[in-house]
Amino acid sequence: MVDVLLGLQWGDEGKGKVVDYLAEKYDVVARFQGGPNAGHTLVLDGKKHVLHTIPSGVFRPSVINIIGNGVVIDPITLRREMDNLHNAGVNFKENLYISKKAHLILPSHRYLDAVMESAKGQSKIGSTLRGIGPTYTDKVARRGLRIGDIFSDDFQKRYDELKAIHLEMASVYPAVEFDFSVEDAKWMEAVSYLKTYQFVEGEYFINKLLDSGKSVLAEGAQGSMLDIDFGTYPFVTSSNTITAGVCNGLGVSPARIGEVIGITKAYCTRVGSGPFPTELHDETGERIRKAGGEFGATTGRPRRCGWIDLPQLKYTIMLSGVTQLVLTKADVLNDFDMLYAATSYKYADGKISDEVPYDMVNSHLEPQYKSYKGWNSSLQGITEFEDFPGQLQEYILDLQSYLGVPFTMISIGPERESLIIREKATV
Ligand code: GDP
Ligand code: IMO
Ligand code: MG
Repeated sequence: MVDVLLGLQWGDEGKGKVVDYLAEKYDVVARFQGGPNAGHTLVLDGKKHVLHTIPSGVFRPSVINIIGNGVVIDPITLRREMDNLHNAGVNFKENLYISKKAHLILPSHRYLDAVMESAKGQSKIGSTLRGIGPTYTDKVARRGLRIGDIFSDDFQKRYDELKAIHLEMASVYPAVEFDFSVEDAKWMEAVSYLKTYQFVEGEYFINKLLDSGKSVLAEGAQGSMLDIDFGTYPFVTSSNTITAGVCNGLGVSPARIGEVIGITKAYCTRVGSGPFPTELHDETGERIRKAGGEFGATTGRPRRCGWIDLPQLKYTIMLSGVTQLVLTKADVLNDFDMLYAATSYKYADGKISDEVPYDMVNSHLEPQYKSYKGWNSSLQGITEFEDFPGQLQEYILDLQSYLGVPFTMISIGPERESLIIREKATV
């Protein structure tokens, strides 16, 4: 079976940490969408690692890691990531497989991202500028380059042709600084380096593993509210971040999908522009950012912070068929007297609803909150749910009863070990 772990908010829910923990129970970990816009942080023996393209199973020696066809790959960042892992003494090369059908991010995709975003002015998406949008655009426009193409004789010619199209497209926008001679050379060098890795027909590879009884964990990137179809469009990324994306991002049938593990912070964050109904613009938001170290793992930008939004979570749980929930960063709320959770939205006309509107960008939503007493104590050293302070237990039980899905894991720190498991949790 293919179990899925994905973010239910706007990304950075702690997917890397939880995938790394869960990887021990799986034979295979596979990334199915997104690219180096992702930043998944793992803390092992006090050392921090940030992964962008490589699956978070690489720290488990027996786990096979797959970069699926739905992922977009920038050879420069992938190589840098590989170098970092090698330097940290992690052996992953033999266990890493890359689908030939994954699309390539060219330097000119990054350039296009930069000129288009800069021309948007006030209506910026707040993209990570990793070339994600332009690369998926080329995939759909049927002119993209796939990583399997690096072995073809006319690769350089096709590269030059695609770059010429990009420069033509970019010429309608004001130019931004970009050194193509440096970036092109670095990119080609990284491509040569990557040729020493293992490339596979990803769909056959993964289905054969499944047929032989192997278990797979699909690792989501970004978050469900950044999904190209169901997110806060147009302030979204360019891939399907929900369970449906697993099938076309790996080449597996929906019938193979098993458990769907949805992950949410005990509060909510967003990095980049776009609607965020429960955002706190006050000192409380600042306190959460500070306590949670809420700065982007990819870009270092401060993350916007706010309370947990239950209508939003109910929506993304529905979209992905979530069967279990993980709550992360509960420890970040240790020193708050009161906590709040949005349970519905009040619209400009006074109507109250617990559904996410068609256009969150232009709807004036006033979240309606339920309040909870904080626990005002440290969670350090706690290993059982029953040993949590009563207020935290109540908070979790109340959230899950609203959401209709049980929290089976609660994360109380960045380290692999700081995870409380509730095997038989029910709502
Ligand atoms: P991802 O993109 O979903 O993998 O999440 P990020 O790595 O971008 O952001 C999550 C951040 O929170 C990282 O710095 C993690 O080390 C950290 N983190 C994860 N779980 C916990 C937790 O339970 N408590 C605290 N304090 N930090 C956590
Ligand atoms: P992980 O996997 C948080 C956001 C960007 C921007 C929007 C579009 O670490 O959770 P893009 O670069 O895709 O064109 O940016 O999506 N974004 C993320 N926010 N976590 C991520 O990944 C993100 N990947 C993209 O900030 O608002
Ligand atoms: Mg992240």
